[in-house]
Amino acid sequence: MNNSHINSLHNELSNGQFQILVRTYSGLEEVLFREIAALGGAEPEKLNRAVSCKGDMGFVYKLNLSLRTAVKVLVPIKQFIFHDNNSFYDALFEIDWPAFFSHDKTIAFDSIVFSRFFDNSMFVSQLAKDAVADRFRKAGFPRPFVDARNPDVPLSVYIKENEATVYLDSSGNSLHQRGYKPEQVHAPLSEVMAAGILKLSGWSHHFPLIDPMCGSGTFSIEAAMLASNVPAGMFRKRFGFEHWKAYNSELVEQIFNGLMSRISETPFEIKASDRDAHAIAIAKRNAEAAQFVDEISFSVADFLKSSGPERKAFIFMNPPYGERLNPDDLAQLYNGIGTTLKHYYSGCEAWIFTAYPEAIKQIGLKPSAKIKLMNGPLECLLLRYELFAGKRTEFKKQN
Ligand SMILES: C[S@@+](CC[C@H](N)C(=O)[O-])C[C@H]1O[C@@H](n2cnc3c(N)ncnc32)[C@H](O)[C@@H]1O
Repeated sequence: MNNSHINSLHNELSNGQFQILVRTYSGLEEVLFREIAALGGAEPEKLNRAVSCKGDMGFVYKLNLSLRTAVKVLVPIKQFIFHDNNSFYDALFEIDWPAFFSHDKTIAFDSIVFSRFFDNSMFVSQLAKDAVADRFRKAGFPRPFVDARNPDVPLSVYIKENEATVYLDSSGNSLHQRGYKPEQVHAPLSEVMAAGILKLSGWSHHFPLIDPMCGSGTFSIEAAMLASNVPAGMFRKRFGFEHWKAYNSELVEQIFNGLMSRISETPFEIKASDRDAHAIAIAKRNAEAAQFVDEISFSVADFLKSSGPERKAFIFMNPPYGERLNPDDLAQLYNGIGTTLKHYYSGCEAWIFTAYPEAIKQIGLKPSAKIKLMNGPLECLLLRYELFAGKRTEFKKQN
């Protein structure tokens, strides 16, 4: 068997530098790269839907607590070549699992497989889980239980052809679960996507932000957190690393306090509205959980009947894009968005995030940027509209 044990981490997890892989959504690699570099990540490298870097355990904590555009922070513990089921199992069995976590922690494997050796990722997870359980038993411990939904120690395997990498997942649940959204609306926007869009747009607190189809308020709350330097993980209750043997709660506390000390009282103007009063009630409750309910102004309003701001503002929206609206209503909505922007928002910059394939055609304005982003399995477009001043006066004259 030609297994090469590339990264054995038992000691390094406590006191050394090691490789870290941070996952994100397709299209957000560049903004994630910049976030990691700004936090001091060593040797950051952009990959497909991920950024790798080097750091120590403290840096893993810092990434989890701070990153706005990351979904998961993973630590690779072994990379190897396998030839069949048996050699795959053996390589996993060789890992000294009891050195990483104790048998009373629940586990679950998440497997991503691109290989002719396995046609089923569930089977890979099962095999990997058996190897972990057998290793604990060999070391004289009971086997850890599996909790597929909410494991203490989530583990991950990535297989490309005959090469496998095994990761400890330091985040646990996806980092888009910030902990400030007790309530959801229909089709809520992921916090990671909202933060990524804000960063791609280059918005800063110097400009008013308008979130006119705010739903659960994600753009507004993420923007308020960004402007005030509130760490993205401030309200999260749980991380995967808390269940590792190498976990150092004092160091986490120290890093958390350091991040909290950088929160600023930067003034900003953020207006969130929606035509649905129920959505506004939810958005307010979420903003309250994020401690920004007094700083964001909320109102029930129809964007298509709105008039624009006095000075240049950034508008962010992800209008409905399907399911609940019939094709005519959808076309009419996007048409109305285009008309409203053109006539009432001149001088502003609008960013529209949508999976509606006819968005550009129906909006009827020329976008100055089109960025492809994946929202789960959905291919989406982020469109930028620069609404030049002058049109409004022309429009007024014509009417
Ligand atoms: C996909 S959801 C937006 C999700 C939101 N970004 C979030 O963070 O949860 C679309 C929202 O647009 C709102 N909406 C649809 N048409 C509207 C209109 N003409 N004016 C204002 N809001 C509208 C819906 O009520 C819904 O809340």
